[in-house]
Amino acid sequence: MIITVVGTGYVGLVTGTCFANAGNQVTCLDINPKKLQTLRSGEAPFFEPGLSELMTRSIDAGRLIFTDDKSEAYDNPDVIFICVGTPTGEDNRCDISFVTAVADDISTALGTMPNPPVVVVKSTVPVGTTQQIAQRIQGDFYIANNPEFLREGSAIDDFLRPDRVVCGVEDDIATKVLTQLYAPFVGQGRPLLFFDIQSSEMVKYASNAMLACKISFINEIASLCERNGADIDNVRTGMCADSRIGTEFFRPGLGYGGSCFPKDTLAVMEMGEDAGAPCLVNTAVHDINQRQRNWFANRIIKHFDNDLRGKKIAIWGLAFKPRTDDVRDAPSIDIAKTLLQAGAEISGFDPEAAENFSTAVPEVQIEKDMYKAAENADALIICTEWSEFSSPDFSKLQNVLNKPLIFDGRNLYSRDTMRNLGFTYYSVGRPTVENSPVPAQSS
Ligand code: UDX
Ligand code: UDX
Repeated sequence: MIITVVGTGYVGLVTGTCFANAGNQVTCLDINPKKLQTLRSGEAPFFEPGLSELMTRSIDAGRLIFTDDKSEAYDNPDVIFICVGTPTGEDNRCDISFVTAVADDISTALGTMPNPPVVVVKSTVPVGTTQQIAQRIQGDFYIANNPEFLREGSAIDDFLRPDRVVCGVEDDIATKVLTQLYAPFVGQGRPLLFFDIQSSEMVKYASNAMLACKISFINEIASLCERNGADIDNVRTGMCADSRIGTEFFRPGLGYGGSCFPKDTLAVMEMGEDAGAPCLVNTAVHDINQRQRNWFANRIIKHFDNDLRGKKIAIWGLAFKPRTDDVRDAPSIDIAKTLLQAGAEISGFDPEAAENFSTAVPEVQIEKDMYKAAENADALIICTEWSEFSSPDFSKLQNVLNKPLIFDGRNLYSRDTMRNLGFTYYSVGRPTVENSPVPAQSS
């Protein structure tokens, strides 16, 4: 099939590349000319394992092209996927202006298209938006909604081997086209589900809201454990043995970041307000998530008697999660800003996200080596659980740190190990390991 994908961000580029990889002819349209150069060279403008290799294969075969020329992109597609950003606006509401701009471009182009395309809204949009877009587009076309469930860092696998594909449709043509398009990726327990359009839009929000809720839930229990001496690792093991609860998505830590959970939780709250049915659970999920990173930063300030002037703090992990360079709504940004405000000097290391982080927090001294970042630091903070941090050279770390003090936001290390190595070790939902000074030898 001939496919046009509008928007080559984390979602659009993966979508276009995977469809091209299945043999379709794909044109990716983006308004950002700077990006196009990078894309045409087969390089992804962001870190996503395996993406560049798949891009190159289809670019070389002539199945994947990138353009900012709308007439080229809208020449004669069978399907148009709208994958442009839907960020949270100033008013904390979902900004769909990029989607409506694309709808207007499609309206203009429809007049010259020989066959009516299927227009698919893949960007995450509040329930009812897809139909609004359909009303906005003048001309002959079929409308559909097709939310994405791609996790950054595993987006290729999530696309090629989805748990499910959800489509919202109103007619048989869109159903037939999407069935053909997704045929290589579904079956053998990977259902292709067709619903009405509103339900399809709602599935996306409800899924992300549930996942975000699990994270805020375990973090709320973790903060209770902080106060009553229980150990969240044990509590989690005990509760997740219940098959109804399950083990996935229950890691306590600094809470969620990224471009989806934060904005989608706010969008659900907005939909609730608009519908006169406030979504109290989502509101609590959002509040707990904000509180988690503030609590963590303030505990560090408290440890230094509320005075960080002259102190150097090192941060390992700047991306909102491992295997991505994305720092959108990353806890590391809020934590670094709070500590800078308290007078600290901050150094930071991240295998992929350093450049994006520097744009967000230029005052942080970025190092290319994790131990260099920790040099002469009075404390080390871990914000992102990159695999590089899971078993560092602790003796080397102790030598470069001014003090053996770690604030672990992702519970990477065992408390016994930390105690045996003589670290003072703060984590999330577990009793703190005090660096019991070696007792003086009795004379
Ligand atoms: C975005 C939304 O954030 C997400 O909610 C939705 O599910 C899919 O699209 P993402 O791919 O992360 O996810 O967006 P982003 O990384 O912001 O990329 C959007 C791309 O669209 C950018 O490359 C931007 O240049 C491009 N764009 C934006 C257009 O081509 N045209 C526009 O009018 C606006
Ligand atoms: C998420 C959804 O998983 C995906 O289906 C949707 O399409 C886009 O949003 P993503 O944001 O890329 O994907 O990352 P994900 O792996 O889901 O993690 C989201 C956040 O939750 C990260 O900040 C991560 O650190 C945090 N998290 C995740 C936890 O704090 N604990 C967990 O147990 C799992």
